[in-house]
Amino acid sequence: MSFLTQQLPRQIRRSLSSSAATHVAIKHVTIIGGGQMGAGIAQVAASTGHTVMLVDTNEDILKKSIKGIEASLIRVVKKKFADKPEAGEEFIQKVLQNVTTSTDAGASIQSSDLVLEAIVENLKIKQDLFGHLDKLAPAHTIFASNTSSLSISDIASSTNRLDRFGGLHFFNPVPMMKLVEVIGTSATSQKTFDSLLNFSKVLGKTPVSCKDTPGFIVNRLLVPYTLEAIRLHERGFFCAFPSSGHGSKEDIDIAMKLGAGYPMGPFELSDYVGLDTMKFIMDGWYAMDPDNPLFAPSKLLNKLVAEGKFGKKTGEGFYKYK
Ligand code: NAI
Repeated sequence: MSFLTQQLPRQIRRSLSSSAATHVAIKHVTIIGGGQMGAGIAQVAASTGHTVMLVDTNEDILKKSIKGIEASLIRVVKKKFADKPEAGEEFIQKVLQNVTTSTDAGASIQSSDLVLEAIVENLKIKQDLFGHLDKLAPAHTIFASNTSSLSISDIASSTNRLDRFGGLHFFNPVPMMKLVEVIGTSATSQKTFDSLLNFSKVLGKTPVSCKDTPGFIVNRLLVPYTLEAIRLHERGFFCAFPSSGHGSKEDIDIAMKLGAGYPMGPFELSDYVGLDTMKFIMDGWYAMDPDNPLFAPSKLLNKLVAEGKFGKKTGEGFYKYK
């Protein structure tokens, strides 16, 4: 790289030098957190030939994660191997053999090329985890977080491998959703960033490059849109004539599906993501930027969360589920 190029900001240097940079071939992956995201990522990584160590806090959760992966693989195989059931069964066994489980993250990372965290969305807990693992992981191991709303730089600050730390933001359900947001901080090295991009492609996903800013790309646009839909509904909900139909949640969902071509309306989507998660993200952004009207709290969302109505996972959110 020339002296002149070296004076450019890191993001611009990154794009200028991307063709020349090498990447780490990621073969062995440790995934911390066997919930809906971690299990999904484990399934996709194991299906594409990686060896996966899936880590969670106890054996019961891990058993449930493996059961979930198996059930999801059965659904995949029904479509992919419709006329070759034996090959389908062989595929399932092969994928499951690629996944082992552990309750001890530290003991499981000795041969890891990548440690990918998908645990609870809490900065302190994520920092503690990575700070601990940083002392135990081999020098070449890349660390990545699947956080939806926290700053990757803040999470990475508990480690001494800022150059080997980035974000890999998958979407739910992971086996179905093609996108991965690859996030580089101002300290992420070109090699690490390219390794994460390449890993996403090997998983069969389409990566996009993101800066380490709140919500990256998708949630930065999607969460304020969803909250604006809730506010639109609230204006009808709390007005004197709620029966006038202005801004009913059903109408808004229908309007966005039929008028904008979205597969789900904003209320269906919120229930699917989880109203607690939506509130957590918005509260964090509001605390960071209280003057931004896009991040203003919603009375209705707060009310539903206070009542424990988190959406599909609790059986009720904006809608009721059996
Ligand atoms: P989840 O609640 O389904 O799973 C989290 C798992 O992490 C649980 O099984 C829990 O036992 C485990 N865990 C918690 N602390 C741990 C620790 N210290 N060590 C090992 N395991 C631990 O959560 P979910 O939905 O899978 O989310 C995980 C992460 O992925 C969060 O950061 C979330 O923001 C992010 N994310 C979530 C998406 C979603 O649609 N749910 C989409 C994209 C990212």
